[in-house]
Amino acid sequence: MRIQELADTARALVADHKGLLAMDESNGTCNKRFAKQCIPQTEEARRAYRELIVTTPHLGECISGVILYDETIRQSKKDGSPFIEVIREAGIIPGIKVDIGAKDLAGHPGEKITEGLDGLRDRLKAYFAMGARFAKWRAVIALGDCLPTQACIETNAHALARYAALCQEAGLVPIVEPEVLMAGDHTMEQCRATTEQVLLNVFEQLHLQGVVLEGLILKPNMILPGLTCPQQDAVEEVADATVRCLLHAVPAAVPGIAFLSGGQSAKLASARLNAMNSRSNARAAPLPWALAFSYARAIQQPALEIWRGRQSNVVAAQRALHHRAQCNVAARRGAYREAMESM
Ligand code: G3H
Repeated sequence: MRIQELADTARALVADHKGLLAMDESNGTCNKRFAKQCIPQTEEARRAYRELIVTTPHLGECISGVILYDETIRQSKKDGSPFIEVIREAGIIPGIKVDIGAKDLAGHPGEKITEGLDGLRDRLKAYFAMGARFAKWRAVIALGDCLPTQACIETNAHALARYAALCQEAGLVPIVEPEVLMAGDHTMEQCRATTEQVLLNVFEQLHLQGVVLEGLILKPNMILPGLTCPQQDAVEEVADATVRCLLHAVPAAVPGIAFLSGGQSAKLASARLNAMNSRSNARAAPLPWALAFSYARAIQQPALEIWRGRQSNVVAAQRALHHRAQCNVAARRGAYREAMESM
């Protein structure tokens, strides 16, 4: 195993206050988002949208890595240049989503297990040969009456760890994404308790499978109240609860934590990350890991709403995408301000 290369790639993914852009929506998810904007749900429309993203001027100044989907990693610009080359030329590291989705967990109504381990070794080899240097696997954990079950937590933690071990064997940095979902009326404290339990299980399984912590990135949810919880906690409370939870569960050897946005608005995702970093900058002892971002909706959504499938909107959409990326770089420094939203 090329441990030094893995550690170098993992550190590069969170270096210079940059973060990750997730553009790895499956065709089904991408089509659903297109349908809401009345964009045709075709392979060509998905290609054109991804071309808009990867050709955004100066994207590499804010984005360290992009997460692609199997269809996208094989696609090219209209002029024939492969996306993967365009991404590398922009100084961005290409990554790939390798799970095949969350399916119903047998015997556990309302819970999911992420699948994709069968044949994964060969797929990882092929993606490495194409130029990918990191991968992503997302597990989803629902919160609710008597949920999650320990069975769901342990099954997903085990799958994440086996995926991570296979990635490192293939020379790819695994992004380990256990997402406790925002859907529901649970409190922030319930989210904290469950997230901590999930993360402790994940790191136990990673240890059992011999995964090198220096060569991975954790992609967790922030500690948030459920979307329909009557009490919506302040940005600073979310920041403190999230950092406290991570300090309890994430070993110091992990180089970076890159949050998912999970359905938060783009502005809140920036403000909450900013609060974590600005409050951490004021701590007597620095945090052991970088606190970064790996957002999909919280970077892409404003751009998608401007583009709406029209070539004439590409430049304005790219500006919006770049602006969100800049806001999140500022949030990594603890320098994001509400006033940036009107620039
Ligand atoms: O797996 C989910 C994506 O990588 C992150 O998406 O920021 O829209 O939650 P999101």
